Amino acid sequence: MTSRRGPPAEPGAEQFLPSRRTLPSLRRAADGCRGCPLYVNATQTVFGEGPARARVMFVGEQPGDAEDRQGKPFVGPAGKLFDKALLEAGLTRSEMYVTNAVKHFKFEQRGKARLHKRPKPGEVGACLPWLRSEITAIKPEILVLLGATAGQALFGAQFRITQERGRPIASELASLVLATAHPSAILRAPDAQARAESFQELVRDLKLVTRALRRKR
Ligand code: URA
Ligand code: SF4
Repeated sequence: MTSRRGPPAEPGAEQFLPSRRTLPSLRRAADGCRGCPLYVNATQTVFGEGPARARVMFVGEQPGDAEDRQGKPFVGPAGKLFDKALLEAGLTRSEMYVTNAVKHFKFEQRGKARLHKRPKPGEVGACLPWLRSEITAIKPEILVLLGATAGQALFGAQFRITQERGRPIASELASLVLATAHPSAILRAPDAQARAESFQELVRDLKLVTRALRRKR
């Protein structure tokens, strides 16, 4: 019997990359990406946002429900919490470049609700050319990974936030690479006290960014 293999489920974003890789041309090209099946059910590609000359780049996991509808990263509940943490740490959101490891919303439909589903490693890998191109275009001084998916996208499956958070990660990607908790993980904390504590831990990690920016000026 002959085995019938169709095209790969995740051909990858590579073939959709434009030849000129400025942020505007990358964003335009990413709109048409079909590098994995996640574009099928999502509303639109949610590309990174922020100044091309940003000194700091944040990488989340993937857009959520609100981001999928609005086409912008971190504008829903996790984004609100992220904004609050930035403010407490003395950072200005409009000066930051904010993006995600995966550019399309993956979800499970439950009645009217669209519940977040974790992207598979194959999907994260398929989407990585966009993230790598954003890093190359922006060349941030400081790269901050929000949660395990961003860490695993860039450093492999063994990456653990609990082990890596809050101290510099050796990497060529930026002069300072840090990891911290994902804002959504804080929203999922079991009670108000746990939530307040993990929020303060996030702020403490973000203050490392504030301090590093001051040192470098
Ligand atoms: N969670 C993410 O990782 N990214 C977003 O843009 C929103 C929620
Ligand atoms: Fe392309 Fe990434 Fe969207 Fe998959 S999730 S279709 S690789 S932009």
